[in-house]
Amino acid sequence: LNQEKRPGCYLHRSDPQDVARVEHLTFICTPTKEEAGPTNNWMAPDEAYAKLGKLFDGSMKGRTMYVVPYIMGPVGSPMSKIGVEITDSVYVVLNMRIMTRMGKVALDQLGDSNDFNRGLHCTHELDPEKRYICHFPQDNTIWSVGSGYGGNALLGKKCLALRIGSYLGRQEGWLAEHMLILGVESPEGEKRYVAAAFPSACGKTNFAMLVPPKQFAGWKVTTIGDDICWMRVGEDGRLWAVNPEAGYFGVAPGTNYQSNPNAMKCTERDTIFTNVALTDDGDVWWEGMTKEPPAHLIDWKGNDWTPASGEKAAHPNSRFTSPMTNNPVLAPEADQPQGVPISAIIFGGRRSTTVPLVLQSFNWAHGVYLGATMGSETTAAATGKVGVVRRDPMAMLPFCGYDMGNYFAHWLSMQARITNPPKIFQVNWFRQDENGKFLWPGFGDNMRVLKWILDRADGRVGAQETPFGWVPREGHIDLTGLDITPEQFEKATAIKPEEWREEFKLQQELFDKLAATMPKQLVLQREMLMDRLEML
Ligand code: GTP
Ligand code: SPV
Ligand code: MN
Repeated sequence: LNQEKRPGCYLHRSDPQDVARVEHLTFICTPTKEEAGPTNNWMAPDEAYAKLGKLFDGSMKGRTMYVVPYIMGPVGSPMSKIGVEITDSVYVVLNMRIMTRMGKVALDQLGDSNDFNRGLHCTHELDPEKRYICHFPQDNTIWSVGSGYGGNALLGKKCLALRIGSYLGRQEGWLAEHMLILGVESPEGEKRYVAAAFPSACGKTNFAMLVPPKQFAGWKVTTIGDDICWMRVGEDGRLWAVNPEAGYFGVAPGTNYQSNPNAMKCTERDTIFTNVALTDDGDVWWEGMTKEPPAHLIDWKGNDWTPASGEKAAHPNSRFTSPMTNNPVLAPEADQPQGVPISAIIFGGRRSTTVPLVLQSFNWAHGVYLGATMGSETTAAATGKVGVVRRDPMAMLPFCGYDMGNYFAHWLSMQARITNPPKIFQVNWFRQDENGKFLWPGFGDNMRVLKWILDRADGRVGAQETPFGWVPREGHIDLTGLDITPEQFEKATAIKPEEWREEFKLQQELFDKLAATMPKQLVLQREMLMDRLEML
């Protein structure tokens, strides 16, 4: 890229067949299929080692082998984990350098310990027929072949920090989650922290870098993390969270100086862009970056593009990789070894109908139920159809390294150990009207909802009890300066029995699938809610 416009920046175009995570080619290789559970693909460890071993054999001949030692988590944190990734891809190395604490610092922390994740990655032929991402939790090992894409190839991220991480978390009594972590500072200087799980491409990066609207003068939101969160119980009985990453692998489309100015500033230097469009003056462009597209571009496949082309110039899952130190609102706590104490946990999906703007759970178990039954419309972050509602429990469906029913049980069991638990909420920024227009303005204005959430967590504001949970009362969410009508707000927050009847039916599929291990508590939660619905 033009080094005057984008110092230290580089544009990478990947193989057009290799632009997203491939969930159907991702495997959990535990000794038994039951351990992986019905929501994961499973392959026997011996079979996986043999199959991938054959593909690896000789495939790096003539290429450069990179050995990448890295830390997931702040340096010196009791929560940190070490990995070593061997790869033949310089793109992977440069991304890992941004996304993790990499190099000597990792070797120094490892010392002569043998406790590190063994990661092996090979670009191979980038043939989707010969692509496998295999996890061996028992061996703390990951083998990935045939893809150069982020979540498939940067092994510290989804593979170690979430799939292996969640497996270790269950054994060791902590939580590895697909969550952002943010800090909120009030005008009085009081600081609180929130973790939020939204599925891929559903708003974590945006929420984590939120700029409060001008009605919230004196309020400040800072970023601890935008994708992954590790939480353990502290001595004070609170949940303490660290971000294992050191950079952002963010969705480019839709990002602009209005929607997410902090992300835009992140990308001004020292950034790797993947599958975005190239402007004639050596800069980058993607859909939604500016109101008017440039008259001419080179698209993500390397072809000439004009607005008349009728195709997207940037891939819908095009991304930027930026160091967190580029973020103007980076929280200094991001490097704190002990992490930050969490006051509220938020679960949110992308739902054009049914799910209201915000709801507080009655208690921990109901909160776990809200997370466990979360549905969301699929996005371009994974290959496959976009826009279909699927269950994505706690935004972890593609990332849980063991049986999902046991994962819910682990969440439930944490309650006894968290004597000072965060409150649990559900949000939906994506509800639409009859014309497909978003009912809620979203982005910076999500601060208005966040404020209510924090006030609730502190017991400072009232709420309305409904059969489904606590919701804000009239006037509790500050709408001043927003150009939305009371009817629109009413639609964004409505709970419609007919929609919920449908929703409970959709949830049935998950309960059936996980029947063998689904905790009874969650089954009962659902039955109580369905019963209450029939009384409406
Ligand atoms: P991963 O990195 O894939 O895990 O995704 P993410 O959860 O960090 O998603 P991100 O913040 O990058 O948002 C993805 C898309 O959602 C972008 O196109 C955003 O413009 C859009 N988006 C984010 N927040 C909002 C919101 O509050 N309202 C609306 N309507 N769209 C949003
Ligand atoms: C996601 O898909 O949730 C991402 C991008 O954050 S990746 O690292 O590819 O998983
Ligand atoms: Mn993600």
